[in-house]
Amino acid sequence: MDEFVAVAQSNEIEEGVVKVVRVGEGPIGLTKIDGEYFAFADVCTHDDGPVAEGELDDYIIECPRHGAKFDIRTGKVKQLPAVVPIPVYDVKVEGDTVLVSKKPTALM
Ligand code: FES
Repeated sequence: MDEFVAVAQSNEIEEGVVKVVRVGEGPIGLTKIDGEYFAFADVCTHDDGPVAEGELDDYIIECPRHGAKFDIRTGKVKQLPAVVPIPVYDVKVEGDTVLVSKKPTALM
């Protein structure tokens, strides 16, 4: 069973707005869309850009450095120049606390 880390209170996460939190060694982007939480590595697989600072359009986030796009539900690349998916993480809510898995979700 994966370990989870408390990263935020649920009222700190706004719909469609990405908050950067820390889980273990890395920064992770955390957001909520239609009430569902998503967490993804804030490190672009193209050249380590801060992808969580990019523009989020529906479930697609665009890295602010060179424009690679990723689906935050799966981490899959939606636009070059990145070719490798970003890790995504399971999220759960206990009471008012949002928790993120320490380990990335296995890619499908
Ligand atoms: S670092 Fe993200 S697209 Fe280049």
